Amino acid sequence: MLDPDRIVYLNGEFVALQDARVSVLDRGFIYGDGVYEVIPVYGRQPFRMPQHLRRLQYSLDGIRLANPHTEAQWDALVRELIAKQPFADQALYLQITRGVAKRDHAFPIGVPPTIFMMSNPFPFPPREQIEHGVAVVTAEDNRWMRCDLKTTSLLGNVLMRQIAVDRNAVETIMFRDDHLTEASASNVLIVKNGSVIAPPKDNLILPGITYDAALDVARAIGLPVDVRPVTRHEALSANEMWISSSTREVLAVTKIDGAPFAGGAPGPVFRAVWQAFQERKPHPSHAPTAALLR
Ligand code: PDD
Repeated sequence: MLDPDRIVYLNGEFVALQDARVSVLDRGFIYGDGVYEVIPVYGRQPFRMPQHLRRLQYSLDGIRLANPHTEAQWDALVRELIAKQPFADQALYLQITRGVAKRDHAFPIGVPPTIFMMSNPFPFPPREQIEHGVAVVTAEDNRWMRCDLKTTSLLGNVLMRQIAVDRNAVETIMFRDDHLTEASASNVLIVKNGSVIAPPKDNLILPGITYDAALDVARAIGLPVDVRPVTRHEALSANEMWISSSTREVLAVTKIDGAPFAGGAPGPVFRAVWQAFQERKPHPSHAPTAALLR
């Protein structure tokens, strides 16, 4: 639950969550005019932080907002926030908005951005989801054409996620023009004839850091990797399907739209990649152990 005493960062200060206040005129609130990152932290070590900071810069460039900090400054702030939490495994959330201004769609001039960070306990996927996989539903991707930017304007994703929740599933897998894009808050990869296949990182999906990590792991253990468009038919007839995200890590999909998928159990390629992924994290996590799927 929300801990009112949790230390968060707001505009240059570390304060208790209950004391952190933002104006109702903040453009994040009025327009969803901001970008964010979620960085996994294992044993107080941020995972792939340079990649997250690089993607943050990409998102900021995409919405034409100047980065308020250098990478070295972000690194120091992130580590300071991590050190202030009483738990070691964390999911650090960082958000920058275009600041507080009179409501007007045009960019305000000379307004400092609002910078907010919080770090919550890492929400490890339940053992059940790792061992037995997860249920997903499918939907048409009706979001905008800049899904490559990690913006706080997430209404499209929120509505997509709720479709899954309403049908007792954990994610909504989306298709656009008969091609697989991603899920409401994760990327989607498939396995066909032993190859790991992933949709390209174009403007239709978020360039996931865990997607990259999963593909790196797959290559490292000798699996063929193919990055190319994936049709709906190919996705739904694949040998395996996985979702990946900073907080879910990699999970196997074992049910689609209520019907068992891929034999209803995580496949062998998933098990190998999951295992290798666990071994490459900065510190083995405390929750599900790396031996779980052996
Ligand atoms: N979501 N696609 C979307 C739409 C996402 O929101 C996310 C992450 C991903 C996976 O990206 P990464 O592997 O870098 O976490 C793909 C985060 C976790 C969130 O919004 O909470």
